[in-house]
Amino acid sequence: MNSSPWWKEATIYQIYPRSFFDSNGDGEGDLPGITSQLDYVKSLGVDAIWLSPFFTSPNKDGGYDVANPRDVDPRFGNLDDAKELIAQAHKRSLRVIADIVPNHFSDQHEWFQAALKAGRGSKERERFHFYDANADGTPPNNWISLFGGPSWTQVEDGQFYLHLFDSSQPDLNWENPEVNADFEKTLRFWIDLGVDGFRIDVAHGLVKENVLKNHPDPQGLSNALRLDVAMDPEKRNALLLTVPYFDRQGVHEIYRKWRKLFDSYGDREIMAVAEAWVHPPVNATRYVRADELHQVFNFDLLTAEFDSKVLFEVIERSISLNATVNALPTWALSNHDSPRVASRIGEEQARALALFVFGLPGSTYVFAGQELGLPDGVLEDSDRQDPTFFRTKGAIKGRDGARVPLPWSGNTTPFGFSTGKPWLPISQSWKDLTVENELIDPKSSLQMYRNALELRKEFLVGAGGITWLESTQHGSKSDALLSYSRGTVTVVMNLSDLPQECEAGGKLVMVSSGTVEAREGKKVIPPRSSAWFLA
Ligand code: NOJ
Repeated sequence: MNSSPWWKEATIYQIYPRSFFDSNGDGEGDLPGITSQLDYVKSLGVDAIWLSPFFTSPNKDGGYDVANPRDVDPRFGNLDDAKELIAQAHKRSLRVIADIVPNHFSDQHEWFQAALKAGRGSKERERFHFYDANADGTPPNNWISLFGGPSWTQVEDGQFYLHLFDSSQPDLNWENPEVNADFEKTLRFWIDLGVDGFRIDVAHGLVKENVLKNHPDPQGLSNALRLDVAMDPEKRNALLLTVPYFDRQGVHEIYRKWRKLFDSYGDREIMAVAEAWVHPPVNATRYVRADELHQVFNFDLLTAEFDSKVLFEVIERSISLNATVNALPTWALSNHDSPRVASRIGEEQARALALFVFGLPGSTYVFAGQELGLPDGVLEDSDRQDPTFFRTKGAIKGRDGARVPLPWSGNTTPFGFSTGKPWLPISQSWKDLTVENELIDPKSSLQMYRNALELRKEFLVGAGGITWLESTQHGSKSDALLSYSRGTVTVVMNLSDLPQECEAGGKLVMVSSGTVEAREGKKVIPPRSSAWFLA
């Protein structure tokens, strides 16, 4: 029997509920829709689902603006639907991870409404960051929201409140003990309802410092913090070292308390993964010290170029930094905040990279639709809903492209996603990328994911560390090849546009695209492709 906790080397499938499957024809995905497709999810070979927020919300930021964290938004169903989803997932041995949003509430949350009514100096305002205007009437400092525009909004009596994101997302004041007490109540609520873990939104943001000081380059900083804004890496790194509202020491005290709460559920093995975009990278390891959280996202692969030097450095660094705190890394190629990997680096490259990371130690996250090889949806500006688009007056297009609903079946858009009009249009060009089509095509991206995840379980989970065979520091073909061995498997990725010979021994068990040939005792890996060989 495997005594390792379930989350240690899990494959976790991220579902954006609004875009997964619509059960009632209103054009938006919902919880019963997810429940109805759990057999499909299970057939992928994943261990758990992470559900992006489905809580009561005016939906100004895709549900990350929570008005009641202990209830389900009617657009997604109700609490009974949540219970049923969890029960059906568990029946299939799938764990369920909920997405908790502790940095901010929606302005529709009863606390914020009460703070508006109660006025300056009140207990109600102390749950948020309310301050008076400067003498000249300007906001308390010059910070720029991550979604563009000022981080402060003025209320009727002249005070300003802080919001690192949209003005509808007031930041909570974590120095007020009522805030932690309320979140612990929320954590217990969902654990008692059956969830197995949490993804913690903006986990690095809860504690702020220097709230009344200006930043020397607030706009640059806001851009540097966005995954969808391109920037010279050196400039980005320099700016990221200056963030006054992220990654403060105080956040770790919060997670130590939460860890005790999780551990009090004993053999339920409740886990939490931190969304903590911190700098320098070594700081991420602090979130996964033995008495804090279980995993921290590594975002590097969401932006890394398809380049052997870059990928070697990202992978090696993540493995070795995590090892310093006895943790395993996490791997994600796409999520709901960043361009889809097939659009970003190319379709074949995306498959190759997925197969490469599936062999690595640690947990791997797959964003729903990634398994189909979906590109970003092409949208008109009139379709867009992301607050970033509006707050930057269209200068930044935002994240809707990655959130277009999934194509399930049939030949005509919306491909079985809904019987109504989908909340974002699904392009007719996705006709060949439906689940139905890919299930019958042995060479599809979907089949590659299913086969790879099955083999990963059989040969790689629990197989220990990797030994590099080809990289900028190993082997002789590092400009074209990256390769490692782990347990009985050798993984080779050809990043170049030409076939490449390699020395890998053993039997070919997987290739991400093309055909591997044998030539004079060597293996020839097709361009932009990865292969697994079993000793
Ligand atoms: C990170 C979430 O992933 C993103 O979608 C959201 O907009 C921000 N946090 C604010 O909650």
